[in-house]
Amino acid sequence: MSVKLQDVKRQFAAVFGREGLGAVRAPGRVNLIGEHTDYNDGFVLPIAIERDTVAVWARREDRTLRFVSREAKESAVVDLAGPVEKGEPKWGNYCKGVVAGLLKAGVELQGTDILLAGDVPLGGGLSSSASLEVATGLALLAAAGAGAGVGGKMEPYALAKICQKAEHEFAGAPCGIMDQAVAVLGQAGRAMLLDCRDGTVRQIPFDDPEVVVLVADTQVKHAISDGGYAARRDQCYAAAKKLGVKMLRDTDAAALAGAPGKQLNAVELKRARHVVGEIDRTLRAVGALEAGDYRAFGELMYASHISLRDDYDVSCEELDAIVASARECAGVYGARMTGGGFGGCAIVLVRQENADAAAGTIAGNFEKLFNRRPPVFATRAAAGAETLF
Ligand code: GLA
Repeated sequence: MSVKLQDVKRQFAAVFGREGLGAVRAPGRVNLIGEHTDYNDGFVLPIAIERDTVAVWARREDRTLRFVSREAKESAVVDLAGPVEKGEPKWGNYCKGVVAGLLKAGVELQGTDILLAGDVPLGGGLSSSASLEVATGLALLAAAGAGAGVGGKMEPYALAKICQKAEHEFAGAPCGIMDQAVAVLGQAGRAMLLDCRDGTVRQIPFDDPEVVVLVADTQVKHAISDGGYAARRDQCYAAAKKLGVKMLRDTDAAALAGAPGKQLNAVELKRARHVVGEIDRTLRAVGALEAGDYRAFGELMYASHISLRDDYDVSCEELDAIVASARECAGVYGARMTGGGFGGCAIVLVRQENADAAAGTIAGNFEKLFNRRPPVFATRAAAGAETLF
């Protein structure tokens, strides 16, 4: 964790005039492989990263929830006596959506003050919103005496679903389940294979000290509430319908080969080809990781990137440039865009001993092309959400 708990506790006291009673944290994520597969009932392989949102909380005497963010000026307020409604500030809608979901699930929320502080870059494709939602949910559950979620009365996956729904209904972002699920269930030193159809998880060892993940941020802002993401989703569903399957998870490359005859238009065919190929690559990547075959894993990352670029049309020149530079660096196994795309971050799987040099080359090449230096940091698979005190 890189947010300093002591600082957040001190700030809580300064803002609310009393001590915090508890604190939780929830991480951001990068996805190693399995992109745009979650809403097709496919497989994803994300890791939680060493960046998170910390929430310090204390109960209040009244029926008010007050959310203050260290990163934003305006606070968000919910009166538990009335309906929970969207509004300003925008960031508060993530919290309000979680409040609405917990109430709907029957949790008896208590008036609570919450101070949120995070170091997941906002809107940068590292799931700052999922980390905010999950931290909010765990803090509210703890304050309600309903257990701190993980190990508490609420099933972790149920909390992830509530957070996903908050995103749908309060932030207008029709996301899948990956980000919230790994924020809740991620484990240190593990990549999380999630079957997005039934929510089952297999934790795959990813703790080799000699290998690290670089995260390079294009700082091209992506917002999944913009139309591109929803359009992809619709195209996938349309393709599945025409193929006569429930979801693209239920078809395969052979069936797709005969698909033009089944009236898939050119765009739907490309989208379906990506999803089917990506699900297959994800499962093969797990095999490669389990065998310690980083070279094979890296090749699958490159293939994933090409498919996202050419068939799914969600990359951009900044992401492509990072992947192209990574390919030229010593010790790099693979690279790809991560997350929804249209900007955001690329990841690079690299040997630890080569990581600094690769980061320098990637940032330097990027600067030559785009006249600004992208932030690049290294991460390993971090722990999922937890109670801090
Ligand atoms: C965003 C969404 C996820 C997932 C990815 C693409 O991060 O929030 O649910 O769909 O895009 O894999």
